[in-house]
Order: sequence, then C-alpha cells, then structure tokens
Amino acid sequence: MNKKPLLNSAEARRLAKEHGTPLYVYRKNIIQKAFRLLHGSIPFPRTKVFYACKANAHAGILKVLKQEGACIEAVSIGEVRAALSAGFPASRISYTCSNISLEELLAVMKTGVRVHLDSLNQIAWWGEAKPNSKISIRVNRGFGAGENPHIVTGGKESKFGIYYTDLPEAIRIASRYRLKIVGLQQHIGSNIFDPHTYLKGVRLMLSTATRFPELEFVDFGGGFGIPYRPEQKPLDVRRLGNETAAIFSEFCRNRGKTLELAIEPGRYLVAEAGALLAQVVDIKKTPGHTFVGINTGFNHLIRPAFYGSYHHVFNLSNPKGRNELVNIVGNICESSDFFVKRRALPKARLRDLLLFADAGAYGYAMSSDYNLREKPKEILI
Ligand code: LLP
Repeated sequence: MNKKPLLNSAEARRLAKEHGTPLYVYRKNIIQKAFRLLHGSIPFPRTKVFYACKANAHAGILKVLKQEGACIEAVSIGEVRAALSAGFPASRISYTCSNISLEELLAVMKTGVRVHLDSLNQIAWWGEAKPNSKISIRVNRGFGAGENPHIVTGGKESKFGIYYTDLPEAIRIASRYRLKIVGLQQHIGSNIFDPHTYLKGVRLMLSTATRFPELEFVDFGGGFGIPYRPEQKPLDVRRLGNETAAIFSEFCRNRGKTLELAIEPGRYLVAEAGALLAQVVDIKKTPGHTFVGINTGFNHLIRPAFYGSYHHVFNLSNPKGRNELVNIVGNICESSDFFVKRRALPKARLRDLLLFADAGAYGYAMSSDYNLREKPKEILI
C-alpha cells in the first residue's frame, strides 16, 4: 500500500505560516471513518466502543467521538475529568485502574463511572467502601501480544490485571463484601495485526467468563493495529469483528442472556488521522552519516526513540528530490533523539517542511516539556 500524506504541500505551507511549527494536525473525517468502520464491523447488537483516550485526549477529538456515539476508557482521574468536561456522562466512561492509591479509587468511585478493578487489594478496598455493589475486574489471562515487548500487557511479565490463577481468591474477596462481579475486562497489548491473536485472547477470556454467573458485560480491550509502514497491510477489521461477534454470540446463547460486548480502541481511531509537521533547521555530515536536524524532538514524538517505532516521513517541500540516506534528528540534548535512522528520503534542504505520518495516537499524548521546550500546537481540521 502506498501511503498518502495527510496534508498536501500547499496546505502544509499555509498551516505552518498560520500556526508555526512543530504542529500536530488532526483530520476529523478520518477519525469518523475509522470509528464507523470498526464499530460497523462488529455485527453484535449490544456493542460498545470505549475510546482509549490515553491515545489522544484533544478536546475536539473527544467531541467528534462523542457525536459518533463512542464511550471513553480512562486510566487516570485526569482523563475521567477530560471526558466529563467533553460532555460524556459518567455512564459512558470506564476507568481502568493500574497501581492507584485507595484515595484515587475512592475519588473515582464518587464519579459514578464504570471501574475495572486491577488487584485483590482494590477489590477489598471497594468492598469496604461500597459493599453490596457491582464491580468489574481486569483479568490477565496469561496471554499477551503486541508490536513490541513494551506494549504487551498480558502474560506473566505484565503488571496488569488480576492473574487468572488468582481469580478464585478474587471471587472469595468479592463475596466477603457481597460484591457482584458483573464485568470482566482484558487488554492483551497494542498494535496487533493478526486477527487470530486477538481472537485467541477473546476465546481465553470467555473460557474464564463461564466461572462468573452474574456477568453483564465483557470488555476485550483495544490493541487494533494500524499500518505504519507502507508495505504493511491494514488489519482485517471486518473479519475480526465478524468472528468476535460470532464467538460472543455463541457464548451468550449458551448462557441464555445477551451480554454487552465492549472494546477499547485507542490507536485505531486516531493514529492515521494525525501527523506532526516540522521544519528542517540544520543539516550536517560526519563520515558516513547525514544528519537532518528538525525543530522538534522526542519531547514531541517519542515513539521512534522509545520503542524504535517507524513513522513514515514526507518531505512536502521537495517530494521529488533525489533520494539520500539520512538520519532525522531533533533539537533535544540527547543522542537518542532521533526520528529516522539511515532511511532513503528525498533530499532535505534548510526550511523544508517534513510531515511525520500516523502520529495521531500516542504522539502529543506522550509529549513533555523536556529541555523546557514548549509543547507543539495542535489543530483539528
Ligand atoms: N485499553 C487499555 C486498558 C489499555 O491499556 C490500552 C493501551 C488501550 C485500551 C488502547 O490500546 P490501543 O488500541 O491504542 O492499542 N504508547 C504505546 C501504546 C501503549 C498502549 C497502552 N495501553 C505506543 O505508542 O505504541
């Protein structure tokens, strides 16, 4: 598949002039398209899509997804507040706890959002504070997957969820406080491409779900991959959706009850809708290397430095330039501050505008003001 830039050269020049660079640009229509495709691919009547807003909590994006009918998955009290102020009612927000204090748990409880408890301690804390209530728990089914080890969130190496061998103890603690376990959640990892991997997680989860007679919903988490590299094929969401719905429908038939099916996509909904626009500010050579220096760094887009992730780059000012083997590096005082290592790209010149593709997810969201450089601007078009 050939990648297309999110902006053409004229648009990039105009936006750079108006807003300056570095600049995150998001396209509303691409978010809507991704949401409709994913949601429409799951032929199950009680499906809810919780957008994992850790991927990008831009207020405009939350608003777009609210209009589409999404719910929000939050992982901090800050994200819960962002969702509430974007107009999502508490009934359309879930909260996934990970190593939170009793105080934070109590604060979240007060908001009335759906909470997925992540440890045996949290079940006991919830029970003390609110006996006779309904709870959901995050399960680690001993199985994880993902593009790289940093983004695998299931299996023995993972800190997340209640390990499945601890579930009898979880049930005992819950019954001590007369808590009804009405929900199970899992998230096995991120940027998954093979539908079989996701479906394996679905089946494992449902084999565990048979032990929970009072269930009202099962949440299979996010993890739907997007093709960052031009040669990658997109995830077959239709097939994944059809099969997930078929497996879940059979589970519900066997129970004699139609439960809610929930998923938590983050990246899938926003990654391809966003790009980071930056400008070439310096160029230097060492024996064997050309370093193209740009006016941003890993403080604005950390994925290449942190995970070794690939982001496609377009030189919008010189798209037809002769290819040159370059490293694209940022303005942060660290050697690990790179975007591209030894990649053939059209010759870069001073002031050229470069566009980093697929930066709508975990781009701005993971930015910092390291070196006391300001965060980039963001616009939704
Ligand atoms: N649900 C839970 C409980 C999660 O922890 C996550 C992501 C998601 C849903 C959404 O996953 P997605 O559909 O976006 O794969 N910063 C990394 C990704 C970390 C994801 C953490 N959890 C990256 O840039 O690749």
